[in-house]
Amino acid sequence: MPRTLEVVAAEASTCTRCNLAEQGRTQVVFGSGDPAADLLFIGEGPGAEEDRRGLPFVGRSGKLLDRLLAEELGMDRSQCYIANVVKCRPPGNRDPRPDEIAACRPWLAEQLELIRPRVLISLGRFAAQWLLETNEGITKLRGRSYPYGDAVLIPTLHPAAALRGGGAPLAQMRADFVRAKQVLAGGEG
Ligand code: URA
Repeated sequence: MPRTLEVVAAEASTCTRCNLAEQGRTQVVFGSGDPAADLLFIGEGPGAEEDRRGLPFVGRSGKLLDRLLAEELGMDRSQCYIANVVKCRPPGNRDPRPDEIAACRPWLAEQLELIRPRVLISLGRFAAQWLLETNEGITKLRGRSYPYGDAVLIPTLHPAAALRGGGAPLAQMRADFVRAKQVLAGGEG
């Protein structure tokens, strides 16, 4: 029997593969959206609001993501899938550590295999570095698309960077979303 996303999510919900399990997480934030989506977003890791509600990108960054999704792609979040590199909140919103990212790796790898999106948008440096297996910074990585198996990867900034930085990073995110729209419509990235 092939595993479904639901089965994987149920398994992940009791995960203790890294020490984030005992560092004050309320719950595992596996991901949400359409399991057959053409478009998959990958963020960094849950923040306080996500940890409380069990859903990805439902805080301030999530509101901006919803806005860009509507304005640039004409979509809402039920039409795509949203996941994170690490599924549990790092305490105090610190960066996820390499050992935590490595321990969590099989969950995201399985999400990618089961959803098989056509377009991947990575949000921020952790997701871009995870997917591209590089230590290069996000400002170098964004602004173009990359083949990723049968999919196309479009790295963009984390919405938190646009919330902090205002106009310039926001314009870059918009341009990256437009690129994704073109690929989803069957065009070149
Ligand atoms: N930031 C992330 O990277 N992921 C979330 O789910 C929320 C905020």
